[in-house]
Amino acid sequence: MTFARIAGTGSYLPDNIVTNRDLEQKVETSDQWIRERTGIEQRHIALPGQSTVDLAEQAALKAIEAAGIETTDIDLIVFATTTPDKVFPSCACILQARLGIQGCPAFDIQAVCSGFVYSLATAEKFIRTGSSKKALVIGAEVFSRILNWEDRTTCVLFGDGAGAVVLEASEETGILSTHLHADGRYEELLHVPCGIANDFDAVKAGQAFVEMKGNEVFKVAVNTLGRIVDETLEANQMQKSEIDWLVPHQANLRIIAATARKLDMPMDQVVVTVNRHGNTSAASIPLALDEAVRDGRIQRGQVVLLEAFGGGFTWGSALLRY
Ligand code: UT7
Repeated sequence: MTFARIAGTGSYLPDNIVTNRDLEQKVETSDQWIRERTGIEQRHIALPGQSTVDLAEQAALKAIEAAGIETTDIDLIVFATTTPDKVFPSCACILQARLGIQGCPAFDIQAVCSGFVYSLATAEKFIRTGSSKKALVIGAEVFSRILNWEDRTTCVLFGDGAGAVVLEASEETGILSTHLHADGRYEELLHVPCGIANDFDAVKAGQAFVEMKGNEVFKVAVNTLGRIVDETLEANQMQKSEIDWLVPHQANLRIIAATARKLDMPMDQVVVTVNRHGNTSAASIPLALDEAVRDGRIQRGQVVLLEAFGGGFTWGSALLRY
């Protein structure tokens, strides 16, 4: 049986750091409120000339190097983003050209904060069916560009960044299972209410901003993530105690802690970056994964659970043996 195994990881954060204290100067908020309600202390914000693909390129090159392969070995690119460089072509195609690759399939996936898990699940299926041998899977965002910097209920929450993995076909176990879900009835709890085909004037006026009913999203997120943990364990006939690491989407430390409690998992088995990165949407999981791989926490052979929840609503998980 062919598995899809993570061969290498990489990530990139823009240099520019914005602290909670910096935000106190812009909106009526406080470092204390942001820390207590979210766990966030700072976030990285791309400079005006930096695009999603710029961040992704750096992350991709690191993942390719870590995998010990050449860029030309890549035969599939799946790119998760909500903040693409252009309406078209896709970020995946733009990145493909930057990496000097031609011919392989390359496409974007839009599932907001669940985008990386959706992309990983998609690439895994290409590998399992033999269509691809080495896939580059990216999550990259410049969410700062769709924030209303005068809205304290959203602007303190998000950050920019990119993460990448190379997935390769292997006889050794890798991804054990993936679980994807969506429920479009919740569209208006978390959205940017305009786009190319709807109220384009707002887009042109630079007012395409995230709107969120935070506490309603919070409640659904906690319950939904609890359910997907059960679904994932059951599908693999695994006990909670068999999971070595939780690498969650980084939206809010309180949501992350609730999922860890559901797994009876101490927080030192949970990879947390939300304090330093904020919520980087599709980039948050590959950023956290890369950090824990590079600092030696996540070791080969260990069982890792990835989970995410975001706009749509979309949610998903991936259980893997690293
Ligand atoms: O990644 C995609 C999924 N997204 C999420 O999972 C996010 C889920 N939601 C959350 O993380 C939390 O709901 C938030 C962090 C967004 C908000 O925390 P909360 O504990 O749910 O606060 P709240 O929205 O109920 O607001 C409590 C109070 C309100 O004031 P009143 O009405 O009680 O007077 C807000 O106006 O806090 C106020 N508030 C703020 N105060 C200071 C909201 N934002 C701020 C702020 N600084 N930045």
